[in-house]
Amino acid sequence: MPPGEGQAGQLRIGVLASGRGSNLQAIIDAIEAGTLRATIALVLSNKQDAQALERARHHGCSDVFLDPKPYAGQPDSREAYDRAILDVLKKHEVELVVLAGYMKIVTPVLIKAYENRMMNIHPSLLPSFPGLEAQKKALDWGVKLAGCTVHFVTEGVDEGPIIIQAAVPVLEGDTTEALSARILEQEHRIYPQAIQLYAERRLQVEGRRVRVFGLSASGPSPRT
Ligand code: GRF
Repeated sequence: MPPGEGQAGQLRIGVLASGRGSNLQAIIDAIEAGTLRATIALVLSNKQDAQALERARHHGCSDVFLDPKPYAGQPDSREAYDRAILDVLKKHEVELVVLAGYMKIVTPVLIKAYENRMMNIHPSLLPSFPGLEAQKKALDWGVKLAGCTVHFVTEGVDEGPIIIQAAVPVLEGDTTEALSARILEQEHRIYPQAIQLYAERRLQVEGRRVRVFGLSASGPSPRT
């Protein structure tokens, strides 16, 4: 099934990405393999040359480059840009926003419109090491376990309710690159999983906690 042309009724996701797009690729691969049942309604980037946009085109997904520059002069430039993004997301009937290496701060304009409907992946075991260079910070700190976190997006950077985490060991002699690669492998595994759980309506946010409903153990979906 082409990732941009899912069946009617399938969850429509909008991926926001600024760079390499390996997490986007993992999502595309999972859809093509049939383990993630969702449609990529669009891939949007703030960077014209983002590899993520190329990946989208290559797999027949709608791709949009939205230039932030025209908004830069305005007093509320970030919000104005996010309002423009929101228009695009609505036009493509996006139900879940997936941040995948999106390197701009998302403002409340988007966060409120997609409350509990926007996910991010971060390369650390949150709440440790939020922000940039998480893998380097983990190495510098001397932790023995590192990892990655998929969480819902709230106004605090990398602070939202946690959906899934995966841990990896930090090995003797690790470089930031080696550790990042080990973590990335797990990112590619858990991001599609988290989206599939959402698609199956098995996630429920209760304060800081995300309950993951099992199909049989916890009874029917809370949102059906
Ligand atoms: C990933 O490490 C992700 O955790 C972080 O940014 C990186 C994006 O990589 N938020 P890619 O563009 O998905 O390859």
